[in-house]
Amino acid sequence: MKDTQALIERVTRVNDTHQHLHLSVDPSLMSMKAGQSVLAKVNETWTPYLRQQWFPVKLTKKALVVERPAAEPYQPGQVVSLLGAVGQPFRFRRSLRSVLLLAYDTEPTPLLMTIPALIENKIGVTLVLCGVAAKYGTAHLPPEVEIIQGDSELNWQNRVTTIGWADQVFCAAAPEVESVLLARALAVFREVRADVQQAYLFGVFRPPLPCGIGACGACLIKVKGSDPQFACAHGPAFDLTQVGGLG
Ligand code: FES
Repeated sequence: MKDTQALIERVTRVNDTHQHLHLSVDPSLMSMKAGQSVLAKVNETWTPYLRQQWFPVKLTKKALVVERPAAEPYQPGQVVSLLGAVGQPFRFRRSLRSVLLLAYDTEPTPLLMTIPALIENKIGVTLVLCGVAAKYGTAHLPPEVEIIQGDSELNWQNRVTTIGWADQVFCAAAPEVESVLLARALAVFREVRADVQQAYLFGVFRPPLPCGIGACGACLIKVKGSDPQFACAHGPAFDLTQVGGLG
């Protein structure tokens, strides 16, 4: 974890709701993997608010590209303070044919960094956008990604087939009601698949991260049969069958 400065080189609008910031960053952040994030502070002036958790969506040769809501004002030339990298990369199985990414009542941003490497390795990617996530415009995503829209009860067309085909699933949910939505996702997958095995269905947890280094204890996730784990240091992805309190 390093405290570094980044320069916003370019700002591009990708759909009605989101923009991409092309950041020139410290070389230590140019090897970030899907699942990892940075804690960002845009203004140097003191603020009572926590740093924002920014998830990259891709790496180019020169820039780390992060996705932010379009309503936030950014300008090329702005300097940003970044703490990172935070967290662990998503853990994919060795043999994979198909991955399901599920955004539930939230933008799919924390999941998108997986897409370039999955496509490069000829692994099928299905992105299911449920509830308010269905409003996220997807024209900028690679054509290889199958996009499906669903409702706020996690119903979508051919749900049984989509879930049956997936070798692994990563689900991001609205942070304000994350555990409720992830519990619902787990229940739906258990309804559809007779056996939800370990290391199949992961929830991406995004609690507030005051420190980001496992020091303050604010981001603890209950794990069955072991000590609680820190979302910042061990997450953000946790196997939903192993998270305590979800059912
Ligand atoms: S944010 Fe402080 S321990 Fe995770």
